[in-house]
Amino acid sequence: MRSLLVAGASLALLLLVAVVLMATGLVGGGSIGVGIRGVFDSSPGKGGPGLRSGNPAAHRWSEAERGLIASLSIDRLPSLPPDPSNAVGDNPDAVALGHALFFDSGLSPDRTVSCSTCHQPERYYTDGKVFANVRNVDTPRHTPTIVGIAYSDWYYWDGRKDSQWAQALAPQEASIEHGGTRTAHARYVLSNYLSQYESVFGPAPDLSDTSRFPEEAAPVEGVAASVAWEEMAEEDRKTVNRVFANIGKSIAAYSRRILPGRSRFDDYAEAALVNDRTRMSELFSAEEAEGLRLFIGEGQCTDCHNGPLFTNGTFHNIGLPLPEGSKFDQGRSLGTLQVVDDMFNCLGEYSDAKEEACVELRFIKIEGEELVGAFKVPGLRNVAETAPYMHNGIFPDLEAVIRHYNHAPPAFPGHSDLVPLAFTEAQSEALKAFMLTLSAPPDAPPELLRQPESED
Ligand code: HEC
Ligand code: HEC
Repeated sequence: MRSLLVAGASLALLLLVAVVLMATGLVGGGSIGVGIRGVFDSSPGKGGPGLRSGNPAAHRWSEAERGLIASLSIDRLPSLPPDPSNAVGDNPDAVALGHALFFDSGLSPDRTVSCSTCHQPERYYTDGKVFANVRNVDTPRHTPTIVGIAYSDWYYWDGRKDSQWAQALAPQEASIEHGGTRTAHARYVLSNYLSQYESVFGPAPDLSDTSRFPEEAAPVEGVAASVAWEEMAEEDRKTVNRVFANIGKSIAAYSRRILPGRSRFDDYAEAALVNDRTRMSELFSAEEAEGLRLFIGEGQCTDCHNGPLFTNGTFHNIGLPLPEGSKFDQGRSLGTLQVVDDMFNCLGEYSDAKEEACVELRFIKIEGEELVGAFKVPGLRNVAETAPYMHNGIFPDLEAVIRHYNHAPPAFPGHSDLVPLAFTEAQSEALKAFMLTLSAPPDAPPELLRQPESED
């Protein structure tokens, strides 16, 4: 009955049904995000404890294995660390402003693109496309989620940004994304959100003199706006950069609040920690437990996908096939050069961090063969909900991902960090079944997971 409803019902009905089912005890809600569970938990079989495996042997783990399983649990996720480069990262007024800006297509010249165009809350902040695409033009990469991304040291598949606020600036000026200019966006925000802006950042500059602050000016490649930018006085450019950076800092204050929720796996890890096999067998089928065993064991997945977010935060080349007609993507070996050069990086004049706080950037490894064709290890929470996969969206489903790990072809250029697994069909199925247990609605106040009501 539940799946029928999920397929056809409107959001309001869904919420009502979810609440009624939970109230009657038919569906386990979990402690977080229960109100929106119906929206995010749209496929059957992930809901919560049901009738699972009666075979306790499937849930027999050594002490070392139980330690490893516990290390993946969301209970081990530390509280969100402050971002020293963003002084307003935890300011509630900045969260509210950033929330509005994340959904505001006014930050694009044709008023059609916002962050939420590609990072859609109802799709775990992804877009379901192979390559991000707006105005019928593909971008070169696939849209990753932003859920839980605030724990990263590096942003983008190639890590060419070192903070969430610096990252939030780039799409606004990319011609294949928002396609705007920083001067126009600064003016837009100061005219539409002046009091909110000033409550966070203090008195705003006056940008009304278009002879000093042209309508469209930015250091973007090969367009009139870049000429206009070059002709501006150095000091005026800095004024605009400052407002632009503040726009990024507000958006980051919002997006860093979108955290992963507690999944069925986390309940299992809790039971595993105290070796409660009855509880474990209520939570996981024998197949799911087998998948977990392969994930932390023979599959060596935790070499890279480890910790509560299932990523070690580093970059690896895993020898992915090239999509037809596309050129080799350098990945991290270019990303390092770009982040060091970025005027909005941790060491730059728009960062709020002291130099000592920029540890990652100061000790970055810029060159090395292992960086060629390497991409950021993505977290795997909610992975079942965010197909297609990889930086180039090359795999349409988890079966295709697992086939790749089974074959692990050599990379060219660069070298692959994988070894072929050659899992049987049943093992591959189990691995997939385990990955499906990692889904849960994002953990954030429900109002942050949708477009804010207009306040004016
Ligand atoms: C046209 C679609 C599109 C729009 C619009 C867009 N993004 Fe993205 N986003 C992407 C793609 C594609 C990537 C990966 C690009 C890459 O790695 O080179 C990405 C990457 C990111 C990342 C890095 C995630 C990670 O794993 O490191 C964050 C954070 C992010 N976007 C936030 C935003 C914000 C904030 C906005 C609005 C200012 C925005 N995006 C607008 C498509 C989009
Ligand atoms: C050597 C490090 C490494 C190992 C070992 C590894 N992965 Fe990955 N994984 C990566 C990297 C890097 C990516 C992204 C690659 C890219 O896009 O170029 C990735 C991507 C993925 C994705 C796609 C996620 C997404 O959102 O696009 C899945 C699923 C995945 N890995 C599962 C696994 C499983 C299951 C195992 C064990 C069988 C495993 N990985 C082992 C490094 C690794």
